[in-house]
Amino acid sequence: MSDNTVLTDLEAQVQQVWKAFEEKFDRFRFSVLDPGDPGFQDSLQTLGQSDVSLLEKAQTASNKLDEIRIQILGKKSAFATLKKKIVLVQEGHHRAIAGQKVQGLKNSIEEPLTKAQDHIKRFIGKLLQQQEIIDVTIPGRRPRRGHLHPITLLRERIEDIFVSLGYAIEDDREIETDFYNFDALNIPENHPARASQDTFYTTEGFALRSQTSTVQIHAMQRRGAPVRMIAPGRVFRRDTPDPTHNPMFFQVEGLCVDRGITMAHLKGTVGEFLRRMFGPKTVTRFRPSYFPFTEPSAEFDFSCFKCGGEGCRICKNSGWIELGGSGMVHPNVLRAARVDPEIFSGFAFGLGIDRMCALMYGLDDIRLLFENDARFLKQFD
Ligand code: FA5
Repeated sequence: MSDNTVLTDLEAQVQQVWKAFEEKFDRFRFSVLDPGDPGFQDSLQTLGQSDVSLLEKAQTASNKLDEIRIQILGKKSAFATLKKKIVLVQEGHHRAIAGQKVQGLKNSIEEPLTKAQDHIKRFIGKLLQQQEIIDVTIPGRRPRRGHLHPITLLRERIEDIFVSLGYAIEDDREIETDFYNFDALNIPENHPARASQDTFYTTEGFALRSQTSTVQIHAMQRRGAPVRMIAPGRVFRRDTPDPTHNPMFFQVEGLCVDRGITMAHLKGTVGEFLRRMFGPKTVTRFRPSYFPFTEPSAEFDFSCFKCGGEGCRICKNSGWIELGGSGMVHPNVLRAARVDPEIFSGFAFGLGIDRMCALMYGLDDIRLLFENDARFLKQFD
């Protein structure tokens, strides 16, 4: 094939590629204008459907320009085939002409494409920047202030009172061995007291503690005697949920062991705690009871904080509110914790925080405290 034929052929194909480019580029020709030019935005607006935002239209136009570049100048394009024709031209001067034509075509395509793409990208950047502009005159959204759970608030009040009476606060494990939950508390295997405090067991033979009394043993083993501590914490029982029962609830344990501790110290301490909690006129009452880990044992009540003992809905017209159990620490318990009962004696008490919390806030059902309903909880701010 003569050089002239190749050159003619090449010229025809240059025209074809240029035409193909012009056809595709026609819709986007407006973008060689400056993005600030009103013609630029008006033409962009006419692209695609009317309900599509200007930003989306600009993004689509940018993608389309990329596609045109690949279709017209890419590896599999008619232009790529055309480029290979240059080597078919024999004579050097003619080949230079062929090269110039091909390069000229490429420049003519690339120049408007690159300009259009630059303008569109600049416009997209401007739109995004406008979206991010902060209007400092808009009133701020006030972040909702969180607050502590009512049970935590009550626990902290109890802790504060006992700390001021010289008690330490103990925090101990919730997963226990039978020894700490029962045996060391003078509840041997097959003792009926185990049934009333049935709990949840792990497959490895551990139990979720059914009372904070377990901490009495840990505290005495760790600190020895004398000791004065309270242990607030979570406990678990296989109790069916109802307005006064939950399978998980909170207790506070108190323990005081020293030389010469008597029931009078117990009564004085519990009485003082309740007066600081519910007011100086609060009266405390002890009723004989039974707990395997205390001897003698007593349950304690206090005069109703609402009616002062007259009788009301809160105290079910009795004038008294039952709060917890107490007693003198059984010598077997002291021995299990390696404290000599010949030298030391002590008292212990335990109360449930959930029921106390429900009483204080006039709740009919302790389960409300664990439903995590923000509308309910935010009342306690
Ligand atoms: C005890 O748990 C003893 N450990 C208390 C004690 C400590 C006595 C030290 C002597 C010396 P009792 O089983 O009565 O006692 O539980 C104490 C309190 O836990 C109850 O008064 C009640 O307020 C609360 N309570 C018991 N079961 C539940 C339950 N299922 N849901 C919510 N609160 C409960």
